[in-house]
Amino acid sequence: MKNKLIIKNANEIITCSGFKQKKGKEMSDLHIINDGAIIIEDGIIKKVGKTENVLRNIDENQYKVIDANNKCVLPGFIDPHTHFVFGGYRAEEYGWRLKGLEYMEIMNRGGGIVNSTDATKEATLDELIDMGRKRLDSMISFGVTSVEGKSGYGLDLDTEIKQLKAMKELNETHPLDISTTFLGAHAVPEEYKGRQDEFIDYIIENVLPKVAEKNLAEFCDVFCEENVFSIEQSRKLLKKAKEFGLKIKLHADEIVPLGGAELSAELGAISADHLLQASNRGIKLMVENNVVATLLPGTAFSLKERYARARDIIDSGCAVALATDMNPGSCFTESIPLIIALATLYMDMTTEETINALTINAAAAIDKADMIGSIDEGKKADIVIHEFPSYNYIPYHIAVSTVEKVIKNGNIIYNKDDRGGLLCYKN
Ligand code: NIG
Ligand code: FE
Repeated sequence: MKNKLIIKNANEIITCSGFKQKKGKEMSDLHIINDGAIIIEDGIIKKVGKTENVLRNIDENQYKVIDANNKCVLPGFIDPHTHFVFGGYRAEEYGWRLKGLEYMEIMNRGGGIVNSTDATKEATLDELIDMGRKRLDSMISFGVTSVEGKSGYGLDLDTEIKQLKAMKELNETHPLDISTTFLGAHAVPEEYKGRQDEFIDYIIENVLPKVAEKNLAEFCDVFCEENVFSIEQSRKLLKKAKEFGLKIKLHADEIVPLGGAELSAELGAISADHLLQASNRGIKLMVENNVVATLLPGTAFSLKERYARARDIIDSGCAVALATDMNPGSCFTESIPLIIALATLYMDMTTEETINALTINAAAAIDKADMIGSIDEGKKADIVIHEFPSYNYIPYHIAVSTVEKVIKNGNIIYNKDDRGGLLCYKN
């Protein structure tokens, strides 16, 4: 019976069916099966359809069976943009921001990301792993089954490698799958103030080759922003990263419209993220080049910025993903229910678009839409049972997790009814 699971009688299975990003209008379709069942074997979805059809000629005694009567079943959520491995906290900054100090002002005065860098340098590898593990555990309770994580609180060789190693270790020992991104150009360290070009050269010559050689990252990202890294500096770094075989992501057009969206298209990036200030031309180029727009409403909310123009971006035909941006500065939350509330209430996204943005399009934003992000035969069995009969309840229960059971690689790893929720680990 090991590794064999049936979920049956689900009032709704929201399959989000597909093996690539859903663009524009395609984001409205959830591909729903009413009274559905799923057969899972060895961590893979073997069959999905109407209960009656799926279970015909199946000996249920050979399986562990979950009756999902009156429940809705969705693909696990994917959080495709986080900075969840870091040392220290910046709670005092939150207080300063409440008093009116702006995020970039704090950064320009020598605070912000650089503060996290100091604490991350001091932390041991084991401490980073322990803190990271707790944050991943919390994500599971929101129905997350895969997550992207970035370095960028090192800004030097040893600490960047330490952060990436922490994620590698967590990927091997924690049930969630982690896609790892090298974000060495996340801020300008104190000793390089005003010498951004030299810092980019340092990263290119001394850090990037080691990261690539040790195979510690799948993606390379950069904070392309006024007073941080320019378009030219970002282009130089990302082109080099591509030569080393890394795929590309960008923190683009968050605070100032620099042209990060355009650059993402030029470089064939997998995703461009934030995009609060992205131009219409940049968005059009992203559509033409299949760059996923990963929007981070938690950050706009926390920084009291205006939200990215999700409606325009989707109506232009772009694929939109949503993520928490979980980090110690601009958005310290791993709450998917908060992101759902903001997307639906403040970004004019429909519930259907929001769910696709957190499943199949989030998978595309980490270049894994062929393996995860939907309930399709052959995909990984990363599935969440929600406690309500329909997906419509998910945003309606505002900012509260509706997750009842989380199934990762075919194993139940979280059960709301059990004390503590978490049930099992990879090893
Ligand atoms: O995506 N914008 C740059 N990076 C992060 C913030 C990191 C931090 O403040 O620690 C972001 O918002
Ligand atoms: Fe970020």
